[in-house]
Amino acid sequence: MGRRRKPKILKEVTITGIADKGRAVGRHNEKVVFVEKAVPGDVVDVRVLKKKSGFDIGTSVHYHTYSPDRIEPFCAHFEECGGCSWENLGYPTQLIHKQKTVENAMMRIAKVDIDLLMPILPAVETTYYRNKMEYTFSNRRWLSQAEVDAGVPFEHRKALGFHKPGGFNKIVDINHCYLQPDPSNDIRNSIRDFAIAENISFYDIRDQKGLLRNLLIRITTTGEVMLIVSFFKNDEDEVKKILDFASEKFPQITSLFYVINGKRNDFIMDLEMILYKGNEFITEKLKEVEFKIGPKSFFQTNSKQAVALYDKIVEFADLQGTENVYDLYTGIGSIGLYIAKSCKHVVGIEEVAPAIEDAKVNAALNEIENVTFYAGDVKDILTDDFAETHGKPDVIITDPPRAGMHPKVVDMLLQLAAPKMVYVSCNPATQARDLFLLKDKYRVVKMQPVDMFPHTYHIENIALLELINE
Ligand SMILES: C[S@@+](CC[C@H](N)C(=O)[O-])C[C@H]1O[C@@H](n2cnc3c(N)ncnc32)[C@H](O)[C@@H]1O
Repeated sequence: MGRRRKPKILKEVTITGIADKGRAVGRHNEKVVFVEKAVPGDVVDVRVLKKKSGFDIGTSVHYHTYSPDRIEPFCAHFEECGGCSWENLGYPTQLIHKQKTVENAMMRIAKVDIDLLMPILPAVETTYYRNKMEYTFSNRRWLSQAEVDAGVPFEHRKALGFHKPGGFNKIVDINHCYLQPDPSNDIRNSIRDFAIAENISFYDIRDQKGLLRNLLIRITTTGEVMLIVSFFKNDEDEVKKILDFASEKFPQITSLFYVINGKRNDFIMDLEMILYKGNEFITEKLKEVEFKIGPKSFFQTNSKQAVALYDKIVEFADLQGTENVYDLYTGIGSIGLYIAKSCKHVVGIEEVAPAIEDAKVNAALNEIENVTFYAGDVKDILTDDFAETHGKPDVIITDPPRAGMHPKVVDMLLQLAAPKMVYVSCNPATQARDLFLLKDKYRVVKMQPVDMFPHTYHIENIALLELINE
C-alpha cells in the first residue's frame, strides 16, 4: 500500500488583501497564496491544496494572529454553509474590500484614474434582502466535525438546505437563513418537518431515489409568495400531501407550482412547471414599474437594491426625454422599462427568448409603448443594419453577464459611437478589460460601485463613458 504524502504547510502567511472571487491572498517566499477561511490581517499556517505555476491555493489550518477586522458571524450556519462567506467581517470592512476590488481592477486593467470612482453605495438592507432562494433536499445531511467526533447515532439524516461549497452531494441543513424575509424560513422548516413526520422520502443524488428534491421560494416586496416544489417522480398521493400542507399552512403563498424532475441534475428551468394553486405570476414593483414574474423568469434578486442601482443608471444617463436608448443584455427588460418614461425610445436585446416574452408582457402591463425588444445574441443582433432600422443610439446601456462583452460587441460599440454609454457590471475585472478596449473612443467620466449582496464578495459597478470628440 502506498504511503500518503505529508501535506505541505506554509508557515505564518500574512493575509494582505482580497483577490478575484473574494479570495483572501498573501505571500509565502514571494509566491502568491490564495487562502480559504482567512481574512486580511490574519497570520495563518496554510495547508496547500493545489500547487500552480505562479501561485498556491490552500486552507488555513492554524491561526497565529486573528485579524482585528474579524467579527463573530451572526449566522449559526456560517462555518458549514459558505453562502455568506464574508459574514466574519463587519459590514463597513466588507465595503472597504469591495471598493478596493473595483479600484484595483480599474487601476491595473482599465488604467483609469481611480479618483473617478465614487464611494460605494451600501445596501439598504444587509439581511433578508434576497427575493429568491433555492433549497435542496437530501437524505445524507452534511455532518459537522463536532457531530462526527461526538459519535451520537442519528434517527435519520434528512436535510433541507444549501450545498456545502465544493460538494454536490453535501447538504447543510438550515434552520434559519438571514437572506430572505418571512415567511421563507417558516415555509422551508415546516415542509421539511412535515415530510419527516409523514415519512416522505428525501432525494438521494448518489442512488437516484427519494421523492423530494428542491424548494424554490420567491417573495416580492409587494408581499406575494411563489413556491415551487420539485419532486423526483410523480407519486400523486405524496405530491398532493406536500402541496396541500404548504397551501393550507401558508395562505400567503399566492402561486404554488410543482415540477417533476427525473433527471440526474437539479436544474428545473427546462421542465414543465405545473400550477397547483393560485396565480401564474407574482408581481414585483420597482418604484412605479410593475413586473410579472413567472416560475421561470429571471429577476434581480435584491429588489430594493435594484431600485438603488437603476436610479444611479438613470442619474448617469441623465436622460432628457429625446434620446434613442439601446439597453443591451436587457434580461426581462427591467432597466429599459424603468427608464422608458425618461427617453424617446428604448431598444432592448437579450439572448434568452422567454425573458424577452416577459419583457413584452411587462411593457404591456405598464402601458409602456416606446420600447422594442429583441431576442438573440447581442454580437449577432447589434449590426449596422440594426442601427439603421432602429436609429443610431444616443445612449447605450450595457449590462453583460460576468464574462463581460464579446470583442465583436466592443468593436460594434466603437463603430456605433453613441455619445454616451452606461456600463453596468457584476464583474469589475471584465468591465475593466472592456473599458480598456474602448479607451481610444470613450473617456470614463465617473464610476459608482453598488453593493447588492452584503456578506458576499459580489460587487456591481456602474461606469459612465463619454465619446471623445475627435
Ligand atoms: C447581468 S444580467 C442583466 C439583466 C438586466 N439588465 C437586469 O438588470 O435585470 C445579463 C443578461 O444578459 C443575458 N445575456 C448573456 N449573454 C448574452 C448575449 N451574448 N447576448 C444577449 N444577452 C445575453 C443574460 O441572459 C442576462 O439576462
